[in-house]
Amino acid sequence: MLPFLQDLAEQAARELDPRWHAYLETGAGAEISLHEAEQAWHTYRLRPRVLRAAGAASTAVEILGTRLETPVAVGPTAYHRMFHEQGEVATAAGARAAGALMIASTRATTPLASIAAAAGPWWLQVYLTRERAAIEGLVAEAAELGASALVLTGDTPVLSTRARGRDSVAQMPLDWHQVNLGRHLRPEVDAMRAIEQDPAASLEDIERLAELSGLPVLVKGVLRADDADACLAAGAAGIVVSNHGGRQLDRAVATAYALPEVVAAVGGRAPVLVDGGIRSGVDALVALALGADAVLLGRPVVWGLAAGGSEGVTTVLDGVTADLVEALSLAGVAAVGALSAADVIAARR
Ligand code: LAC
Repeated sequence: MLPFLQDLAEQAARELDPRWHAYLETGAGAEISLHEAEQAWHTYRLRPRVLRAAGAASTAVEILGTRLETPVAVGPTAYHRMFHEQGEVATAAGARAAGALMIASTRATTPLASIAAAAGPWWLQVYLTRERAAIEGLVAEAAELGASALVLTGDTPVLSTRARGRDSVAQMPLDWHQVNLGRHLRPEVDAMRAIEQDPAASLEDIERLAELSGLPVLVKGVLRADDADACLAAGAAGIVVSNHGGRQLDRAVATAYALPEVVAAVGGRAPVLVDGGIRSGVDALVALALGADAVLLGRPVVWGLAAGGSEGVTTVLDGVTADLVEALSLAGVAAVGALSAADVIAARR
């Protein structure tokens, strides 16, 4: 982990309300996947080249037609008002200042319209909930507000039992829940009920969401080649390799290990993004060399948000991007787009 991220994590532990901090940091079950995520990236080694005029490496990428200054993006995380009074609006502004993509959560605690106004390029993360009408309303609103893609979370047929902070969400002010979903609810349904996951969500929902919104739909939570194939066959426009930050199925395979088989299965047909334990530009470099088109930061963005609002978010994204630039140069690679699987090998274990 980059030292400045470690400092931010420690600051968050000291300063945040313990209920919100527990919610942020928890994993599922025995937290085996949570703890393995970061270390899994460390099991790869780079194969640097010499004398390649790679002194000022470029980090620009294009994903689904959107040009981004950095492949380091804001992954979807819930309830940002737990961490800063300006919530997701600060996160979006911080991402914009870093030239980074923002993926806003269905569980955002500030109005989507304000997030859209503050953001540069942004996507909306979507759950399939029992109250389909609420999600459909939210998705239509996001499309109108200029979201350029949806990220359908596929790994939450049920929410897991968390190791810590189990009561935190129940203690949140009701208006934090209400602010977005509440606008699209039938009056007799409350926002807590509306967010309940639909255990019957299926691959068919990918196409349904795409038709409803007119937006490309990426599926998040994919960890296997055959699943990536099935999602693309069902109409997905991209794949997010993720184990939900170790918060859903404990002992789900680390994303660093799952990424290569997913990239091979996708075979360049669609973008592949990855999250989970990326805590430096070198981790990002490994992911990009293994074939990811972008990497998503979850908890580190929230540490930045808690410490310094939008500026803190920018600091995190810029800091990881700067480390990526240095790592690219040292690897003799002039641009993110020039990375390939030949630049990385599994370390001898
Ligand atoms: C979580 C859910 C809300 O991980 O996505 O806490």
